[in-house]
Amino acid sequence: MYRPQNLRIPGPTFVPQAVLSASARPLINHRGPEFAALLAGMTRALQDFLRTRGDVFLLTASGSGAMEAAVANTLSSGDKVVVFVNGAFGERFHQILRAYGVDARRVEVPWGRAVDPDVVRDDLARERGKDGSKAVFVTHNETSTGVLNPLKEIAAVVRESGKLLVVDSVSGAGAVDLDVDDWGIDVLVTAAQKAWGAPPGVSMITMSERAWKAFDRSNLPKAYFNLQTYKAQLEKGATPATPAVTVYIALQESLRLMAEEGLDSIVKRHRDLAFATRRGLQALNLAIFADEAFASPTCTAFRMPTRLDSRNLIRVLREEHDTIIAGGQGRLEGQIARVGHMGFVTIQDMLSFFSALELTLRGFNQPVEQGVAISAALRAYAEATQPPARTPVASRR
Ligand SMILES: Cc1ncc(COP(=O)(O)O)c(C=O)c1O
Repeated sequence: MYRPQNLRIPGPTFVPQAVLSASARPLINHRGPEFAALLAGMTRALQDFLRTRGDVFLLTASGSGAMEAAVANTLSSGDKVVVFVNGAFGERFHQILRAYGVDARRVEVPWGRAVDPDVVRDDLARERGKDGSKAVFVTHNETSTGVLNPLKEIAAVVRESGKLLVVDSVSGAGAVDLDVDDWGIDVLVTAAQKAWGAPPGVSMITMSERAWKAFDRSNLPKAYFNLQTYKAQLEKGATPATPAVTVYIALQESLRLMAEEGLDSIVKRHRDLAFATRRGLQALNLAIFADEAFASPTCTAFRMPTRLDSRNLIRVLREEHDTIIAGGQGRLEGQIARVGHMGFVTIQDMLSFFSALELTLRGFNQPVEQGVAISAALRAYAEATQPPARTPVASRR
């Protein structure tokens, strides 16, 4: 019998029925007026959500494609750049840069910790007077460890240095505090299947004026991802190649639902759900992998009890409770599990996750008092979202 799964991986995320239904609409001509209107409306909506008056392009590619576009459109072969790496996605940026022949210097930050703006400042200061790096690459929300890097403060430091700032916000944008123009971010990438609650296949990339100046000097090969062709086509209401029309239509519906909720409420909801999730896990004595101060609002990574491999926990959650979470990536495989709470997610989704987790842990002979995580998560959520209950008038006497 088919039962809907509680899809709690950090992307692709749950897609609401209204969005799925939108993607089932008949196809339209991607060079016709309906598509032009759709593209113009979505571009404006994305500018609002990302808080930019600069360019935003929709690419038919996953988030990694947009990361590649960010590299190819701003740099030249042999350019020096710095990449701050505190997880698997920082490593991915580094790999892409190396594949393009960029001289990318890695600054390693322990996984689970955030990139400290003072470390960025000191690092860039050491370059002063030398033939330093042109750009700084950083991951906003490191999905592999559940860490939200303090991007606003990092951006302020990079702005002082005059270098280009390129940000992977694939799993942050649309769910966390972000102001592309005000913070001075030159290029930022995100993807439809994360906080935007749409199916995978489309990613988004912003370009500041500084980024366009870098584009003019850049000599890295670019064809499918040449953003100048996207800009020229956008003015005509089209894309350079055939776009994933169906995913665009779905994303348009997600953006409409998100606009209805409002960005401030979305950001607060993510913060509150993340807080509730951490408290629920801690009630089960499962340690949160990230520092509390930098814990991600969209994805929580937690350690396993001794002698329990996260792959086994994940298997039982899936096979017996239709609850799907993710494991650790790279060096963290088997050691941690990651639960996503991004996009169209509610406290009920998280309570359902906790009920499955409690039963699963008990099955592994862990000392779990049933209901403890559910109750801790619910209490934390209520504390974050509701003012304290007033004493009823009748009982005041
Ligand atoms: C922070 C981050 N960057 C990049 C990516 C890669 O995105 P995609 O899988 O859409 O290529 C992901 C996907 O999980 C991510 O979380």
